Amino acid sequence: MVELARRAAELAQQGADVIRLDQGAVDIAPPSAFVERVAEVLADPEINRYSPDPGLPGLRSALARYGSERFGVEWEPESEIVVTAGANQACFAALLAMVEPGEEVLLPSPWYFNHAMAVTALGAIPVPVPTRPEEAFAPAVGAVADAITPRTRVLVLINPNNPTGARYEDDLIRELAELAVENDLWILSDQTYHELHFGSVPPLSAAAVADAHDRTVGSFSKSLGLAGWRLGFLAGQAKLVTEVLKIQDCSVICAGRAGQEGLRAALSEAQEHVVRVRTVLHERRDRLMAALRAAHLNAFVEPGGSLFLFLRLPGVRDDRAFCRRLLEEQHVVAVPGGVFGPGGEGSIRLSYGSTPPDSLGEVAGRIATAMEEPSLED
Ligand SMILES: Cc1ncc(COP(=O)(O)O)c(C=O)c1O
Repeated sequence: MVELARRAAELAQQGADVIRLDQGAVDIAPPSAFVERVAEVLADPEINRYSPDPGLPGLRSALARYGSERFGVEWEPESEIVVTAGANQACFAALLAMVEPGEEVLLPSPWYFNHAMAVTALGAIPVPVPTRPEEAFAPAVGAVADAITPRTRVLVLINPNNPTGARYEDDLIRELAELAVENDLWILSDQTYHELHFGSVPPLSAAAVADAHDRTVGSFSKSLGLAGWRLGFLAGQAKLVTEVLKIQDCSVICAGRAGQEGLRAALSEAQEHVVRVRTVLHERRDRLMAALRAAHLNAFVEPGGSLFLFLRLPGVRDDRAFCRRLLEEQHVVAVPGGVFGPGGEGSIRLSYGSTPPDSLGEVAGRIATAMEEPSLED
């Protein structure tokens, strides 16, 4: 991925019309309340100090209200919420608190590679739970049950999903939560894309049905366009949050203070902003799907959320070589499906979060052309 991004920058510098569908980013500016509050607090010397490790009390209270409204869960701000430097840091700290080396973590696959890397870095074992496009990439309860062993400690769920764009049915979340409780597993609910769904209501959070077992991770990188500010949270019953706080203290200490101030101000008007982001993403998703279908690229599942579409490439054996050629010959950057673990091979991930609609219309034709001209590499 790094190599593709570097080459894309090189080609763009040479004047090529490069279309980037690799970055999981949204190109919509953050809410004005965030920007205004950050500008205001910069003059306050206090802003240069650490915040309390778990985050500013006012922000944690605002997050508790947000959790109640958007997740349907009542978290106690003092003991059950930690403001983190993004969802990735929250996931890493949660996994470190949950698993010992040699223990197993279930990851529906294709998976988010940073989760698999975090598990491996901790000396634990990422266990793929295969999902299938025919089942809209939802992890079947039977497949999860079959993957459980005496060493399994955690089931990770990303809903809506990166990289597949799947949005799981509420009933599935209930059944998976039940299974986790029966087997005394933690659920790590990564809800980075919780707000980015295309239905009328947000997806069910496992915390709403299995609070004692669930630890929810959230992010403001995509929904509020704050990726560079590194703002996320971890929430759940106090037992594990206390452990996470020790890890927080010896790693980042606290999330950046100015960003926390901005987020506290922005959360109150966040829903208005998020509805706008959702509308833009919905339009872009539809534009991309229509263009793909018009180019006879039909091997995908309609995304129910997030900002990704996972496209199968029938007949393409090597997705990495295909992505290299797609960039060199057609100037399109996509992520090879193989980087998302077992089940990802032979596909590419297209991110439509920061691509203008006209480019999304154009991209399908370029992918189709690349598929018509198989090179020796494939
Ligand atoms: C599933 C998932 N979790 C976590 C992250 C990281 O989010 P953050 O920027 O809040 O660390 C991403 C970013 O792409 C993601 O896709």
